[in-house]
Amino acid sequence: MANTIVVGAQWGDEAKGKIVDYLSDHVDMVVRYSGGNNAGHSVTVQGVEYKFHLVPAGILHPHLLCVISDGVVIDPVILMQELQSLQARGISLSNLKISGAAHVILPWHRLQDELEENARGEEKIGTTGRGIGPAYADKAARMGIRMAEFVHPQRFAARLQTVLAHKNRLLTGVYGAEPLKAENILQELETAAKWLQPFVCDTALLIHNAASRHSVLFEGAQGALLDIDLGTYPYVTSSHPIAGGACLGTGIGPKMIDRVIGVAKSYTTRVGAGAFPTELLNETGSFIRERGHEYGTTTGRPRRCGWLDMVALRYAARINGLDALALGHLDVLCGLDEVNICVAYKDGSGNTLEDLPSDLASRTDLTPVYERLPGWHTDPAEAAYWHELPQQAQQFIQRVQDLLNIPIATLSVGPAREQTILMRPELL
Ligand code: IMP
Repeated sequence: MANTIVVGAQWGDEAKGKIVDYLSDHVDMVVRYSGGNNAGHSVTVQGVEYKFHLVPAGILHPHLLCVISDGVVIDPVILMQELQSLQARGISLSNLKISGAAHVILPWHRLQDELEENARGEEKIGTTGRGIGPAYADKAARMGIRMAEFVHPQRFAARLQTVLAHKNRLLTGVYGAEPLKAENILQELETAAKWLQPFVCDTALLIHNAASRHSVLFEGAQGALLDIDLGTYPYVTSSHPIAGGACLGTGIGPKMIDRVIGVAKSYTTRVGAGAFPTELLNETGSFIRERGHEYGTTTGRPRRCGWLDMVALRYAARINGLDALALGHLDVLCGLDEVNICVAYKDGSGNTLEDLPSDLASRTDLTPVYERLPGWHTDPAEAAYWHELPQQAQQFIQRVQDLLNIPIATLSVGPAREQTILMRPELL
């Protein structure tokens, strides 16, 4: 067993839930360490699809302890509803723990998210509108309210008075919005606070103890290129989806991490605004979107689609320290005569860039340099082994591995748990 971090190696939506679910058999604990209900993944088990926003996908395995740790921001009503719907489908919640140090998304955060986006005009980030950025901003400003306070009625009411006074000055003074009333917020959130209270505890020691047995899976949300520091700022989320975020968001030291697995699609998608050099604004982009059902799990927004970008993927491999890659969505590319891989960018002066520039978000002069490979017309969705894949798909995968210089541990050929080809099981 190993303490393993699973991270998104692109701009999110890489189907990390599937690989987390797959690896869950080999650990005692699964920890969700960053982000909030801006994330969403679907996992299909025995033909039944489960959608998650905050709860670790590991909850489907009764032997696991599932933790929502310090680094996550929690919308209490959404979490309660997600848990209730799992319960209604017969999933036990007895193995769930929520960190008392996780920050709470409160009604003003969602409001602020919307007002700030509107105020950005043409420069909208395209947030999910879930209050994520404002909640993390308040955490950094030491104005946040944490789960341990939230589930304690008197402490929550007292903190609310102080914080709301400040928030109302902001809402009314800067944005000309109506002030929020403390009694309405208390009423709105009372049920969720009571409902979630039994799950809230100090999770840092719990995670440390499981990590000492090398038995923890750290489940990343979003993707490396959305990291607040290392992503395509400012078109990023406000947390640390990268592997380093697993330490920050749980209280585990980096030496306890045994391996990091990156998850990527065989192409690239992005939701919201921001640089996307390999974006396809043509019928191939639409083909990928429709075949790959590339619509947000959380917001339903159509995802922007493009060719696999090895410049971005190599960067993600570097900043996460990837040991292996789980490459997915190979079935989606089936039916194309030609498949492209971006191996570098050309800048406005004709220079070739093989490394992602830190100012990518503001670069308008970059064009992708493509390698063109033959496509495949036999659907690999039924393939259970490498030798059952179409030869052109094998060539594509081999090329990705060579360009990345990191081994591919698994291939995914469809959403179901069974649609996974094990290439290097010893790396998992
Ligand atoms: P926020 O996290 O809602 O503040 O959104 C900031 C940016 O991150 C926007 O471009 C979102 O579309 C993007 N984003 C946030 N969460 C996800 C996700 O789970 N998948 C893909 N994009 C995401």
